Amino acid sequence: MKKLFFNFISTLFLASLLVACNASKGKLTVESPDNNIEVKFAVSKVGAPFYTVQFKNNTVIDTSFISFDFKELPSLKEGFKVINTTRNTVNETWQMPWGEQIDVENNYNELVVYLEEETPLKRQLNIRFKIYNDGVGFRYEFPKQENIKEVLITDENTEFNLTEDHTVWWIPGDWDIYEHLYSETKFSEIDALSKANHENLAATYIPENAVNTPVTMKTSTGLHLSFHEADLTNYAGMTLKVDPSTLKMTSELVGSERMKGKAKITVPFNTPWRTIQIAESAGDLIESKMILNLNDPNELGDVDYFTPMKYVGIWWEMHIGKSTWDMEGSQDMNTWTQGKSRTSRHGATTENAKKYIDFAAENGIKGLLVEGWNTGWDKWLAEADAREGLFDFMTPYADYNFEEVKNYAKEKGIEIIMHHETSAAPLTYEKQMDEAYNFMKQNGINSVKTGYVGEIIPKGEYHHGQWMVNHYHKVLVEAAKKKIAINAHEPIKATGKRRTYPNAIAREGLRGQEFNAWATDGGNPPNHIATVAFTRMLSGPIDFTPGVFNIKFDDYKKGNQVNTTLAHQLALYVVIYSPLQMACDLPEHYLLDGKVHPAFQFITDVGVDWQQSKVLEGEIGDFVVIARQEKETNNWFVGGVTNEEARNLTINFDFLEEGKTYTAKMYKDAEDAHWDNNPQAYTIESKTITAASNIDLKMAAGGGFAISIVENN
Ligand code: NOJ
Ligand code: CA
Repeated sequence: MKKLFFNFISTLFLASLLVACNASKGKLTVESPDNNIEVKFAVSKVGAPFYTVQFKNNTVIDTSFISFDFKELPSLKEGFKVINTTRNTVNETWQMPWGEQIDVENNYNELVVYLEEETPLKRQLNIRFKIYNDGVGFRYEFPKQENIKEVLITDENTEFNLTEDHTVWWIPGDWDIYEHLYSETKFSEIDALSKANHENLAATYIPENAVNTPVTMKTSTGLHLSFHEADLTNYAGMTLKVDPSTLKMTSELVGSERMKGKAKITVPFNTPWRTIQIAESAGDLIESKMILNLNDPNELGDVDYFTPMKYVGIWWEMHIGKSTWDMEGSQDMNTWTQGKSRTSRHGATTENAKKYIDFAAENGIKGLLVEGWNTGWDKWLAEADAREGLFDFMTPYADYNFEEVKNYAKEKGIEIIMHHETSAAPLTYEKQMDEAYNFMKQNGINSVKTGYVGEIIPKGEYHHGQWMVNHYHKVLVEAAKKKIAINAHEPIKATGKRRTYPNAIAREGLRGQEFNAWATDGGNPPNHIATVAFTRMLSGPIDFTPGVFNIKFDDYKKGNQVNTTLAHQLALYVVIYSPLQMACDLPEHYLLDGKVHPAFQFITDVGVDWQQSKVLEGEIGDFVVIARQEKETNNWFVGGVTNEEARNLTINFDFLEEGKTYTAKMYKDAEDAHWDNNPQAYTIESKTITAASNIDLKMAAGGGFAISIVENN
């Protein structure tokens, strides 16, 4: 009895000691399912909420506070106490209707912290953490309450307190455009303001030293971190303000001068997720599906009106200045200006469209994009202030017989992709949207490339602010109602909404191929894609428009070129993920000695919808090799690209099924290939391989390789 009593007392003592410990430290912890990541949450002595993140017991995010500032309301910042917590674990698998893979594992531990102010206002804020094996997501939830109803957020201050001066791959935190080159610097050397101005950008605005997301880093111990957001809905996009002296980043939401704030919310309201991807290898960042997992499940059901496809288009010829979008032919693509009328060089003519349709039909390409088919382009570059009401999304130019092209495409089994350049006048677009989408459907068109070139009208709004986030969302929702898929250029960044709205098929949102045609800074450097794969591509599919074969296009623009080899261009069909992949060059540039170029066979063969994807190797900014298995055919495709350094690699094919033999057709840089001196030199070689094969490959400077792998019968 005595002993029992003693035991009882000691248990009580221990329990109270534990409570006391918890109270004094006040820390709540939650770990990833594999226990490698641990997030701690607490409120400070003055009741300010903060969190930390550990990976394998090393701190990766040190004490980081969170707070909100409002218009005409005291900040939510201090005086909080934790009034409740809830926990949950989820382990499920869902399927992508199209994507990098079919099955996606969604496995996380969740902690929700319920906070309440101890002041008379007693305002409440919940923070929901989801900890995955590949990173951390957290968002703020404003529950229904008396003292916050409708508020204007003037600042969200989410801190990310780094532990050392990491190497960072970043673009400026521009409020209008993501089309900047990536810089690689130490965190303390980030100077976004000096990198932001670029004469080729139609709209750019950056108020302070901040970066856009995804922003990716490597620590001195070789850990990879990438910061972004998920499910950006009815809120402003987040840039990250950089403090080089304290190694701290703080969220800086994109503002609106009309609203004089950042985001207007009506409570109850959930913010987007703030995300930190954590990976030991760079390739694991690409394989992570955390951003998608943080979004809500598919709300559209079957989207079989959209088929992943390759497409050609009346497009590159305008960018290199062979033809123009407007019928008069007055656009000058050396200066991006509209001059006086000259001999018509209109690209979108009935005859030209038929030429592209023939090429597509003969070479296994499914889609055709036609830009410059509709009226309005004659003033597109000329009258920057008169863009409202400029474009008409139903009326073709006189030399483009819409019916005839439509019928010809149908006859040849080619699907037309609509083009809507809004010239950044979203109100004009919203007015015509319903009719324009009906017009598309009446003509059997199921997808549209949208564009938002220029400063947003009305003035005071920015491409990445709440007002535009809501516009892009509205486009998705309205298009979905009509069974239309959207490929947006000059978009808001991807935040995984394709899970909820799988009609969000692709977008631009980076310096695409077009910059090689007209940029005055030499175009995209050879390391561009080796950087993009680990930064921009983490957010979602990219309409990069690869496939330039005539690398120097001297007949059109002597001062510009693509800064890669031809084999590197082929590799992009595998390295870059998108359910839409363009073969962007002119049909005549895909000919060699009067016949279709032998290397075009890879573009004909390569898949666009995948059963699974594996990153075989890669280092940010240096090189990357990705293998993807096509749905239905089970064929594999491997693509590798390098930066300006030539590189030798050994590819191990252990992802293939054991006991089977395959034919690997390899499209490689020729021995003497070089992105600048000899970019079009290639070789093609076929080999029988098995899962045990190892093949040595050499990539030229700025080069790459592409392999198609088909099982032998
Ligand atoms: C910019 C887009 O990125 C490009 O693809 C398009 O051709 C032009 N705008 C015209 O809409
Ligand atoms: Ca663009």
